[in-house]
Amino acid sequence: MKCLNILKIMQLQLHLLIWCRAAETLTDHLTDLGQNVTINCDLDVKEVIWLLLKLLDPPVMILLSSTTSANFYFNKTFKQKYSVQSKHRLFINNVTLDDLGLYYCLTTDFPPKYSDCTRLHITELTEKSKNQHNGRLLSSYLLS
Ligand SMILES: *[C@@H]1O[C@H](CO)[C@@H](O)[C@H](O)[C@H]1NC(C)=O
Ligand SMILES: *[C@@H]1O[C@H](CO)[C@@H](O)[C@H](O)[C@H]1NC(C)=O
Ligand SMILES: *[C@@H]1O[C@H](CO)[C@@H](O)[C@H](O)[C@H]1NC(C)=O
Repeated sequence: MKCLNILKIMQLQLHLLIWCRAAETLTDHLTDLGQNVTINCDLDVKEVIWLLLKLLDPPVMILLSSTTSANFYFNKTFKQKYSVQSKHRLFINNVTLDDLGLYYCLTTDFPPKYSDCTRLHITELTEKSKNQHNGRLLSSYLLS
């Protein structure tokens, strides 16, 4: 748990770094609202933490996935939304607008290694909301 506190601080510092890296290693995952989605974690380790980065918000720690102990949810409300499959794959149940964003996993070592980012987005954005979305992503990038 001490290690998790360090990670909480680290995640803010990593924010910008991850954004830069995201630009290079970004995978796009197109979906529709109401679908289930599975996202891969390309880290071959015993334990990872899954995070979600949305627009202007700091990254949200979703869960700790471990092959040697029970998974730990950072907020118990995430249990209905997220589960973990083999190889730390993140399963997202019934995608809503709230779930869209950049997903990535981190190792719990120090310093943490992080995976490629997966951007979850939907096909149905209108031109207007698409522009707003991109505008917010851009300001999120600039403000980081
Ligand atoms: C999503 O997964 C849930 C739980 O596994 C299942 O009940 C539901 O039918 C799935 N929905 C879709 C659209 O595949
Ligand atoms: C858990 O998530 C719910 C719903 O998003 C939120 O209202 C609540 O503040 C969160 N709790 C913590 C401890 O972050
Ligand atoms: C999926 O989420 C939407 C919005 O929260 C909800 O109205 C719907 O009932 C959910 N569907 C399932 C199968 O859980």
